[in-house]
Amino acid sequence: MTTVFRLDASIREAGSVTRAIADTLQDALVSSLDDVLIHRRDLGLKPLPSTAWAGAAFGPYTPPDLQTPEQRNDVVLANTLANELVSADAYVFAIPLYNFGVSQHFKTWVDIVLTDPRLSSGSPSAIRGRPAQLIVARGGGYGVGTPRHGWDHATGWYRRVLEDIWMLDVELIEAELTLADVTPAMAGLRGLAAENLASAHVAAREHGQRLAGRLNSAAAGVLDFAAA
Ligand SMILES: Cc1cc2nc3c(=O)[nH]c(=O)nc-3n(C[C@H](O)[C@H](O)[C@H](O)COP(=O)(O)O)c2cc1C
Repeated sequence: MTTVFRLDASIREAGSVTRAIADTLQDALVSSLDDVLIHRRDLGLKPLPSTAWAGAAFGPYTPPDLQTPEQRNDVVLANTLANELVSADAYVFAIPLYNFGVSQHFKTWVDIVLTDPRLSSGSPSAIRGRPAQLIVARGGGYGVGTPRHGWDHATGWYRRVLEDIWMLDVELIEAELTLADVTPAMAGLRGLAAENLASAHVAAREHGQRLAGRLNSAAAGVLDFAAA
């Protein structure tokens, strides 16, 4: 059995571009894999409480008799979230750009997960070398030469955590101009936006098929991600 962990951070369900691209990737993956479980964590629709971070961070350093019930719950939550990552063979992260920065729900999740010793910054990552797909969507355009070039302060941070702290083998799929259809000032960009979206779905299909091939090889013992 191959387990794929899928995380969604869009705060909307209907019309979500990141969810739709992740669905395309997942469909391609599932149709090419023999035995797969998709383990989902939906942070957009079921956010974690940001207050859990303090308890998860300080609970382990508090003598057991002084721990509050909240701290104990927060440490259990951190352990549960880390287990979800450690028990997966591959990852799909679907995350929009919000207010030129990181999704607060994803940030809360990362903060809590980083309190677990298996995934903390500075420790050997328990999920090192495993494949991850990072899907991001942005309402505007951020390419070189555009007025907002350099304003996406999220994607670099996502890569920093996934690639440099957890040492995942990350592939990125990006969709831009997703607000063109509903923003009159972006009417002239609608053709470009449609092309961009179509390309993102093509990439998602290709990545899903390629990932399935990689996971099938790993299941057959040909590849060992942990040794990568
Ligand atoms: C509250 C909010 C803030 C947003 N902030 C930005 C932003 O700073 N820059 C941007 O390009 N798009 C921004 N957007 C647009 C989203 O990035 C875009 O709609 C994206 O497609 C959302 O992902 P989803 O389609 O999966 O829901 C924002 C959307 C919302 C709802």
